[in-house]
Amino acid sequence: MTVREDRYFIQNQDVLELCQNYGTPLYVYDGAKIEEKVNALKDAFSGVKMKIKYACKANTNISVLKLMNKLGVDIDVVSPQEMAIALKAGFSPNQITYTSSGVSFDEIEECVAENVLINIDNLSSLEKFGQKYGNSVPVLIRIRPNIEGGGNLKISTGHKESKFGIAIEQKPAILDLIQKYDLNIVGIHQHTGSDIKDGKTFVNVAKVIFEFAMDFPNLKYLDFGGGFKVAYKKGDIETDMKDLGEKISASFKEFCQKYGRNLELWFEPGKYLVSESGYLFAQVNVVKENPTKTLLGLNTGLNHLIRPMMYDAFHDIVNVSQHTESPKKMYDVVGYICETDDIAKGRELPEAAEGDILAIKNAGAYGFTMASNYNARFRPAEVLIYENKAHLVRKRETLQDILTNQVLVDF
Ligand code: LLP
Repeated sequence: MTVREDRYFIQNQDVLELCQNYGTPLYVYDGAKIEEKVNALKDAFSGVKMKIKYACKANTNISVLKLMNKLGVDIDVVSPQEMAIALKAGFSPNQITYTSSGVSFDEIEECVAENVLINIDNLSSLEKFGQKYGNSVPVLIRIRPNIEGGGNLKISTGHKESKFGIAIEQKPAILDLIQKYDLNIVGIHQHTGSDIKDGKTFVNVAKVIFEFAMDFPNLKYLDFGGGFKVAYKKGDIETDMKDLGEKISASFKEFCQKYGRNLELWFEPGKYLVSESGYLFAQVNVVKENPTKTLLGLNTGLNHLIRPMMYDAFHDIVNVSQHTESPKKMYDVVGYICETDDIAKGRELPEAAEGDILAIKNAGAYGFTMASNYNARFRPAEVLIYENKAHLVRKRETLQDILTNQVLVDF
């Protein structure tokens, strides 16, 4: 968002006009920001053969996916439904990886039938895969590196207690299955966690993967997962992509030389590509003066953005209806759900009036995709701004959407 003459814009779209045209609450995505992030990642790894496999669980809007494809990004899906959306958005099967975690084998078969590459995270499914497909279908395996990483425990996946991946100490069992079924393991994958603060974590994980990979002679891909840290406010720690690119590219080249072949290096970012592109715009329903504090009650809540309640996540908030220089006041910003749903506590914001529009930032990743119909509220509309034009990419829900699969029993 930029400010011109005290009005806020995304590209050349006036955000108050967007809110007027499409109503609030409203998710808006800035396509130019997505493109900037894609390019930054590509640039950082320009010295090696690197592919971006967008972890679409962060934002599955079909037009966002189409934009990713247009930008030369491939895609990582975690369910047959995400796969179907990716295919509908125009990805070809060979651009899609299905990173399954503890799913039924039927789902794996469904995705194999679409010629999508499968990433398997447990020995039992790997055995079934061997029994059914032998070496006729290439497959990736997800390993658990036993490395702690991630902004908090709820979003850490690489540590010893995590449910994800095949523990690295179980390598002999993987090798046995390869022998037994002549499995064609073409890739090793790991994902350490989300919001990884320390760039060294990626470097340490790379070492584990490189060492692990040496026993697998048919590899084409090494997939390092996602988890790059984005800034949630000014001055926040974020992954230094240039520095990471230099370090990982150098060690990857060294590995390829030792391995004897040039492989592809894959990353699966979600947040990095879309978090900062997204805004959730909401209106102040009520300014509530309590004896101890002032609350701003919005026409949104944990039903639309669960991250503050679920992970204590910080989301920066801007009052786009007020002048940037207007006097400030301390607020708790809360939702309209009939349950505690704090969005921000103790936040200094320009003095707000009922009817003002607030922009909740970093709402592009795990915002809409984690939204629900709690309190029978409609999920918001979504708008994607691309080349200065606003596109409605999801209509606001209606009561019909909420009722559509419900059955009124005829007692
Ligand atoms: N690859 C795999 C296998 C993953 O499980 C994930 C995220 C990613 C890639 C992408 O991670 P990212 O680059 O977005 O950090 N809902 C939580 C985040 C959960 C992440 C789940 N897996 C949040 O809002 O913080």
